[in-house]
Amino acid sequence: MDFSEDRDNHHQTKILAIGGGKGGVGKTVIAASLGTGLAMMKKRTVIVDGDFGGADLHTVMGFEKPKKTYFNFYNHEYENLNDILLEHPEFDHLKIMSGAIGSLGMANLSYQHKMRFIRHLRKIVADFIILDLGAGTSYNVLDLFLAADRGIIIVNPDPMSILEGYNFLKQVLFRQIAQIIRSHGNTTGLIKKISQTETHKSKSTILDLTNQVSDMDRQLGEKMITFLNQFHPMLLANMIIESNDENNILAIKSAAHELLSTRLEYMGAVHKDMTVNESIQKMVPFLSYNPKCQASKDLTHIITTKLLQIGKWRSLGAKRTIRKMGKTALELEKTDQICSVNCLYWEDCEFKKGGYPCQIKHYIGIRGFQKE
Ligand SMILES: Nc1ncnc2c1ncn2[C@@H]1O[C@H](COP(=O)(O)OP(=O)(O)O)[C@@H](O)[C@H]1O
Ligand SMILES: [Mg+2]
Repeated sequence: MDFSEDRDNHHQTKILAIGGGKGGVGKTVIAASLGTGLAMMKKRTVIVDGDFGGADLHTVMGFEKPKKTYFNFYNHEYENLNDILLEHPEFDHLKIMSGAIGSLGMANLSYQHKMRFIRHLRKIVADFIILDLGAGTSYNVLDLFLAADRGIIIVNPDPMSILEGYNFLKQVLFRQIAQIIRSHGNTTGLIKKISQTETHKSKSTILDLTNQVSDMDRQLGEKMITFLNQFHPMLLANMIIESNDENNILAIKSAAHELLSTRLEYMGAVHKDMTVNESIQKMVPFLSYNPKCQASKDLTHIITTKLLQIGKWRSLGAKRTIRKMGKTALELEKTDQICSVNCLYWEDCEFKKGGYPCQIKHYIGIRGFQKE
């Protein structure tokens, strides 16, 4: 499938960046399965390895020795990023961009190379581009996170990961604010002041800072507020074991709201699941390795409800069907099927178990899991 034509007809390619500060939280395995899941649902998807210092996406995706990598674009052997994309042998709708293997020096991509990469990323025509980022909060990681249409922060239940997830968000935010200030004019003092603001230690918040800036320069204050109003990254909990884990992770959401005036959208949680490790050994993303394991069910739910919002439309459709038939939910008979065997969760289905209309939001046509 050719993803190369220019973006026309106002085609909306969504670039989703996956970050999270800490290494080993599951950014790469989630990026791989998220992208594969979207492709299985017939969305043209490109998964891009944006971890320039430790490229490993290709391994998770089953490419032992990728024929082309980012390095071939970096050294101008190929002028278009599109030309180094690798077709996935199993899924028509899936391509990947392999990072430059064994080139640790690339972690510090120069400004020019970073801008060229971002420019070309935006030229790719697809429904989704999933950008897997490296660990840490280097400017390159922060800028790639900000270059995406939406950012997803991945966090594990351990306190270090939660703290680093919050810190990552804060660094992203401050990076963008510093850029807004810089592009507004000569405000070196302000940038310094901002970088020294320890919002998690002192009582000082982004709101205080915005107010201070507004007092000095109303226009600049307004620019900051405009950015804060439209900035809402997403949060994904990975490797949760017990339900309390999710509550601990959700502390980031409250802290982001209170201290950083940022609305984090919680996407949901993926359980810790040994199948994930098995799938890594087999070099297959866990979602296609075993679509029915717990981690796959969790991620499928996230994809359908948060990225595709199939669930929303399905339940709306279901409600309409009920209304049309003039029946209340409880009067519905088992034969009045509003859900179907095409549902990934058919076996655990409420409807099937108790004859109650299916509220489940995980519907994916079974064809979504097969190559046409
Ligand atoms: N949901 C999960 N269940 C079990 N193990 C997981 C899960 N997510 C990630 N892992 C483990 O964490 C390791 C690190 O994941 P990876 O995606 O490489 O992290 P990152 O890209 O954030 O550095 C994987 O090799 C895998 O063993
Ligand atoms: Mg990684």
